[in-house]
Amino acid sequence: MIHRSKVEEMAATGQPGERRNDLIPIGRGDLSVTVDGQAIRAKEGETVLTVLTALGQRAICRTDRALETGAWCGMGICYACQVLVDGRKARACQVRVGEGMQVRTRANIFEAAHSE
Ligand code: FES
Repeated sequence: MIHRSKVEEMAATGQPGERRNDLIPIGRGDLSVTVDGQAIRAKEGETVLTVLTALGQRAICRTDRALETGAWCGMGICYACQVLVDGRKARACQVRVGEGMQVRTRANIFEAAHSE
């Protein structure tokens, strides 16, 4: 019989807002961030993109032509992972999570850039 940890059980059941795609479960996590209004546990040092990936969220950016994109390069070159972090546009793969951070995905980042 295979015994799974509580975190592995949660990952297997796939509750909404739960991290279910981590390669290594983070346990309780160190931080709390909000993604599209939902509180998510995160580990200090990880990026916004790893949190979104752990949530199974692949379409994270909306272009000025209303097309949704997701991360391509994972290293800051393609700009296909832009989200709003605390109201400012940012590449999800280049921003480390911080306590209380507010992340909004699929926001029109071009409108956000021009509204400042
Ligand atoms: S995934 Fe390419 S810039 Fe973030």
